[in-house]
Amino acid sequence: MFKLNDNYLKLPGSYLFSTIGKKVSAYSAAHPDKRIIRLGIGDVTQPLAPAIIQALHRAVDEMGKAETFRGYAPDLGYEFLRSAMAENDYKAKGCDISADEIFVSDGAKCDSGNIQEIFSLDNRIAVCDPVYPVYVDSNVMAGRTGTYDPSTEMWSDVIYMPCTAANNFAPQIPKETPDLIYLCFPNNPTGATVTKAQLQEWVDYANKVGAVIIYDAAYEAYISEPDVPHSIYECEGARTCAIELRSFSKNAGFTGVRLGCTVVPKDLKCGDTALHGLWARRHGTKYNGAPYIVQRAGEAVYSEEGKAQLKEQVAYYMKNASYIYKGLKEAGFTVSGGVNAPYIWLKTPDGMTSWEFFDYLLENANVVGTPGSGFGPSGEGYFRLTAFGSYENTVEAVDRIKAMKL
Ligand code: MLT
Repeated sequence: MFKLNDNYLKLPGSYLFSTIGKKVSAYSAAHPDKRIIRLGIGDVTQPLAPAIIQALHRAVDEMGKAETFRGYAPDLGYEFLRSAMAENDYKAKGCDISADEIFVSDGAKCDSGNIQEIFSLDNRIAVCDPVYPVYVDSNVMAGRTGTYDPSTEMWSDVIYMPCTAANNFAPQIPKETPDLIYLCFPNNPTGATVTKAQLQEWVDYANKVGAVIIYDAAYEAYISEPDVPHSIYECEGARTCAIELRSFSKNAGFTGVRLGCTVVPKDLKCGDTALHGLWARRHGTKYNGAPYIVQRAGEAVYSEEGKAQLKEQVAYYMKNASYIYKGLKEAGFTVSGGVNAPYIWLKTPDGMTSWEFFDYLLENANVVGTPGSGFGPSGEGYFRLTAFGSYENTVEAVDRIKAMKL
């Protein structure tokens, strides 16, 4: 008789955004006359930029001719895309990362869930609390997190680094020593950032204790302040302790197109073994590459027109972020984020729990957000709104929230 991977049975509830989706569908079915505005999941709403659409069309045409047709992509991604990334995302920012250290994938979500596979099961992970749920859940599935305590909503073998108003939503070096440290800046869900000097402390710490930092830079395009690093490789010594995840979802609207990458520097080693080789082996065995047409679309992100168009797109969403931030502040909410990130993090009013406020907002304003507690126990009493809606919907949502009786 077959047996299950019973680590899956330890997972409490369903994936956060699936739970929210079900709740919203049920509300919508019961109230078909209500126009719901979704500022929950961080999914983009603006169409792909013209430079990207043109690149997609060209690549589709190539696939229709025998001379230019392409089959399987190279294991680690097409050279044209990896070079464009190395040049623009890294060399241009003074980071020493070469094209052959970049592994193209179908997105940062998969990579952030899969990267743990190359590490031993007895590694201790440290995560920010609140945190993007994929980092924890994928380690639960692997059997690395111990037992779950429903009363604290914590796993026995996970090191939680609380990110609260008291520390400006920036994690502190934990008392226990982790082996793997997940960091995401600009942060999902709080929208907080760290300075380059603060990130340097993490790099120094990881190198000192022999830990690996898994750095999720999915939101770097939203950085507006000068002292906030766009990549962990801006820090001295990061090549020997950090893996970086990149996404095309938020900077270029590829949530439905799917493209991302993982950077594994060749200097990152466990004894004599380079992690680069392990990830290459994993990629080669389990993955057949992002589609050619999508990688061409990714290349267009780095063209002059692409860069200009995407700058406008990011500015469009950041105008929403600023509208939400200011509107909620005027309405008396305690708000943070929204300056270097497309997420606004607010304190729920009147001591409501995060889920109570979710229900209240859905019923009274027909606006969907994300309960902070869904990201971890320190998210309780907080709520996340995304700036990825249309401007019109964003304005209406804020007006509806302001009009709510609290
Ligand atoms: C979010 O809402 O947190 C994001 O959409 C998650 C993701 O990018 O997978």
